[in-house]
Amino acid sequence: MKKSAIALACLIAVVGFFAVSAQDPQPKDQPKQKAPKEDLSAVMKEKLRFAHQILTSLAREDYPQLEVAAQELGRIAREEWANEPTDEYRTQLQVFWTTLEGIESGAQRKQIDEATLAYMQMTLSCVKCHKLIRREQQQQ
Ligand code: HEC
Repeated sequence: MKKSAIALACLIAVVGFFAVSAQDPQPKDQPKQKAPKEDLSAVMKEKLRFAHQILTSLAREDYPQLEVAAQELGRIAREEWANEPTDEYRTQLQVFWTTLEGIESGAQRKQIDEATLAYMQMTLSCVKCHKLIRREQQQQ
């Protein structure tokens, strides 16, 4: 009786092991995705994080955090400026920047309405740039 319980436990452990390893999402010997695209995607996740932080700060009227989040987004945009040569993309980045400056100045002057309006403009700028990128990809 005891032996069969042990055998059953072993069986469960072995089946469990195979089930887990079959689900392993990234087998080690599979080729990696293209590096530049992965980097860009990581950058965009950062953007999403700070954009979210801006919204939270607006809701809390937390001006110091608001200013920092806008500055962080500005820093990311500057890095993109250096990496991305096309004129159209740079134009979009400039629009994006302008909206961030609006958030920053709203935070510095503790003007919640001004900062909120700039945040809405920033959201439009996120969407507009993505729309443009999608159009370009469709044309290729
Ligand atoms: C100047 C252009 C531009 C602006 C402005 C911009 N993005 Fe992006 N974003 C891109 C590009 C290019 C991609 C495509 C990346 C890819 O295909 O991997 C992208 C993709 C993304 C993605 C998808 C990433 C993924 O995992 O596939 C998210 C999320 C994102 N952006 C968030 C934002 C947010 C939030 C903002 C505004 C705060 C923003 N982006 C502003 C150019 C921009």
